[in-house]
Amino acid sequence: MRYLLWLFLILLIITPVAADDHLEEDESGEHLGTLAIFFLILGSPYIMLRRLLVYSRRLDDSNGEFKEHVRRMYHNIRSNMLRLHNYSMLVATGVGLVHGLLLINRELGDTIFGILTLLAMILLSLSGILMYYRFRPVWDNRSARGFTKFLHRQWLLTIIMSITLILHIA
Ligand code: HEM
Ligand code: HEM
Repeated sequence: MRYLLWLFLILLIITPVAADDHLEEDESGEHLGTLAIFFLILGSPYIMLRRLLVYSRRLDDSNGEFKEHVRRMYHNIRSNMLRLHNYSMLVATGVGLVHGLLLINRELGDTIFGILTLLAMILLSLSGILMYYRFRPVWDNRSARGFTKFLHRQWLLTIIMSITLILHIA
């Protein structure tokens, strides 16, 4: 958790400074949006790995060898992949936030889908942090715990985030 906070702090300080360096503020702000997408992609293998496991379990027993192979692979790389998911998605949210703040004064038409994307990312990141670190006050309460897991694991927010992002950059 300590490292995570440092990462966030450094990011929040460095990105606007770096952004000011050589480029016009607006132009560099736009590049940060591309950087956020890069981190979103970097953090997604865990989601694919998990889907692969879930779908392979549904195959019938004639695929036993394949199922066992996937199960073993999942258990071997799960924790590293999940860590990559967490950090990368958090950085994506941080960079997306800075990008949004630099460009928020543009026309509503240019910003509205970006704002929706960012809101979905913030909700996913907050629920992800609560889940991963089993944040006490939430984790001790059964319904709050259930809601947090539901918020993150159902795919609706992720799908909304992806669609609004596509509309934003289209
Ligand atoms: C409060 C949230 C946001 C605001 C206000 C915002 C605003 C903007 C604006 C004004 C532009 C320039 C549009 C144009 O010139 O046509 C832009 C471009 C872009 N935004 Fe956002 N955005 C937000 C969130 C995001 C997020 C969360 C991402 C990615 C995860 C993102 C990715 C991009 C990309 C890739 C571009 C295109 C950059 C380029 O063409 O080089 N934006 N955004
Ligand atoms: C925009 C950011 C994020 C997106 C789009 C996202 C998306 C997802 C999705 C779709 C799953 C479910 C995979 C499945 O079971 O089908 C998942 C799982 C998970 N995410 Fe995220 N996530 C994001 C950010 C985060 C962050 C910031 C953290 C933690 C710091 C996090 C922690 C987790 C954890 C712990 C799981 C595992 C759930 C489990 O296996 O039981 N996520 N994420």
